[in-house]
Amino acid sequence: MDNVVILEHPLLKHKITKLRDIHTGTNEFRALVSEIAMLEGYEALRDLPLEDVEVETPIETCMSPVIAGKKLAVVPILRAGLGMVDGILKLVPTAKVGHIGLYRDPETHEPHEYYCKLPSPIELRTIVVVDPMLATGGSGVAAVDFIKQHGGKKIKFMCIIAAPEGVKRLHEAHPDIQIYIGNLDRELNEHAYICPGLGDAGDRIFGTK
Ligand code: PRP
Ligand code: URA
Repeated sequence: MDNVVILEHPLLKHKITKLRDIHTGTNEFRALVSEIAMLEGYEALRDLPLEDVEVETPIETCMSPVIAGKKLAVVPILRAGLGMVDGILKLVPTAKVGHIGLYRDPETHEPHEYYCKLPSPIELRTIVVVDPMLATGGSGVAAVDFIKQHGGKKIKFMCIIAAPEGVKRLHEAHPDIQIYIGNLDRELNEHAYICPGLGDAGDRIFGTK
């Protein structure tokens, strides 16, 4: 599928295995989500535009590239997406941060919006939507819908674990966005949880249940 990238780095795979482990506690889980976001971000941001600026080295003055254009926007889908933000900010400390609040209805599994705040001008920024889990794809599709309604154009979606059903739904709804996946898992179960997955990402990051 064009625009769908399954990341293959061994460090990423190793950290995802630790993340899945039921014995991994909240503290380590948070640290792993952040590290994985950084590794994924490094790959997902390969095509950021550059422009040359003049820089004075101790030897001479030269032209050298820096990231061009308006600052990047990172947009976590609340809650679990919050865990991935600081990993991206370690790579791009000047990025702006928007928020989209969505929760899945436990019966229908469809997303409900409760918050949306995006940095402006959103249309001039590369936007990286982050959420550890792409399950049915309902939350991802709704988040990208909102961002496009607000004028967002250059959008990337980054998740840690995806189900085939969610990838298909998000790609079919928004074929123009790039989707980066840490691992493509087998399937959804009858509760729309990813198998084998890692359980409820929000609860594991925030220590709730
Ligand atoms: C989880 C997860 C995604 C969503 C994925 O959030 O973080 O946002 O489910 O499922 P989907 O692809 O079927 O929409 P949840 O709704 O549990 O909210 P939370 O992050 O606040 O726990
Ligand atoms: N949300 C999660 O946190 N985990 C899943 O497996 C599916 C949706």
